[in-house]
Amino acid sequence: MPDKDNKCTIDVSTEGIDETGACSSSSQGNLLGQQQFKLHFSNVFYVSKQNKTLVTILNDICGEFTSGRLTAILGPSGAGKTSILNVLSGFKATGVKGKFIFNEKERHLLAFRKASCYIPQDFALLDLLTVQETMCDSVDLKLPSETRAEEKLKIIDNIIQILNMEKCRHRLVRNLSGGERKRLSMAIELVTNPPVMFFDEPTSGLDSVASLQIINYLKRLALDGRIIVCVIHQPSSKLMKLFDDVLVMSRGKVVYAGPKADMVPTFESAGFAFPDFYNPADFALEVSSEEHNERLQDLIEWNKKRHCGECTILSADMDSCVNERTKILNILTYEGSKLSVVRPKAPAGFCRQLIILTRRSLRTMTRNLIAVQLRVIIHVIVAVLVGAVFWDIGNDGARTLTNISCIFSL
Ligand SMILES: Nc1ncnc2c1ncn2[C@@H]1O[C@H](COP(=O)(O)OP(=O)(O)OP(=O)(O)O)[C@@H](O)[C@H]1O
Ligand SMILES: [Mg+2]
Repeated sequence: MPDKDNKCTIDVSTEGIDETGACSSSSQGNLLGQQQFKLHFSNVFYVSKQNKTLVTILNDICGEFTSGRLTAILGPSGAGKTSILNVLSGFKATGVKGKFIFNEKERHLLAFRKASCYIPQDFALLDLLTVQETMCDSVDLKLPSETRAEEKLKIIDNIIQILNMEKCRHRLVRNLSGGERKRLSMAIELVTNPPVMFFDEPTSGLDSVASLQIINYLKRLALDGRIIVCVIHQPSSKLMKLFDDVLVMSRGKVVYAGPKADMVPTFESAGFAFPDFYNPADFALEVSSEEHNERLQDLIEWNKKRHCGECTILSADMDSCVNERTKILNILTYEGSKLSVVRPKAPAGFCRQLIILTRRSLRTMTRNLIAVQLRVIIHVIVAVLVGAVFWDIGNDGARTLTNISCIFSL
């Protein structure tokens, strides 16, 4: 619960991530003193083979994401938004070529996968588990086995509180609303508290109020010192205000990547006219949907030049945002919500996984008794049929073939 004055401090300890994806060191401090994370990518190509021909899905893309900032990926359908998330998160690695720099070092794919998470549009959840049980399974599977039960419960409490899911804590997943399901998919990934989070269309299928709520949560996660990147379809002006940076895509190329405030002036300087009282996101979509336009090509080339050098583009806008971040943090953060402690991902061993998954399976079975009863009835019927067909054949040596087919069918 928030404290009475809506004011609190937040613990931040994200010094660095070693090759195992774990925290190498930590320091308690305020948000402004924390280490910045940066993910810079340049000359990235993603090629996929289709019917023996190579299809270039991402074509020489460049850009940069910085911690503490919420980034929106915009573009028309088929522009390559999901593909860029797949490639940057390391989810797709074959057919990918390019330079990825994470915190001024070459990205180590396995370590980066452990330190980041990717939440796809259709995140699979088990309908017959409650929110709390889903979270418990996630904690059991992802955190080291030596983590104490009280510690695990504290982590779950914290996440549920941050995502405002207290009221549906003991509700079955199948009864959750669309927004609550989205928040639960975030909650599952927040267990390891990754410093880099990618979301594919977290607001699609939600109304404007629920979308605003989700983006507000993402903003809160970003303000806490994470890199948050999300693909978003046609955001309203109000939603757009919450984003700090944008990356606009067009046919597998990046048209613009940088601070949101500079996007419209950049497009205008390339010769695109921005109508009065227009939503900048709609403007970006219109610009990126243009066919074979020379001005669009200029923007793509300009973005490449801008990001193929040192990673300094976003930092120019950083100072102005620091004050805003502190202000919003005072309103948004909750006492004791230790969001920024990166917890190392330590997948459970085989036996532990077997126990957790069997427990989960038994739990879902007991909640779907009709399916269990049907299964028992089918087993009985099949047993009676097989028994009737092969009745009393075991004692007759002349029926060897029938004996073999009986053993085979059993
Ligand atoms: N594995 C693949 N093989 C061949 N083509 C692919 C592959 N994956 C994606 N594509 C193509 O690449 C293009 C970009 O796909 P992507 O899913 O990234 O688009 P998107 O911008 O996310 O679109 P939407 O907004 O509709 O989700 C599409 O034309 C798609 O058909
Ligand atoms: Mg997509």
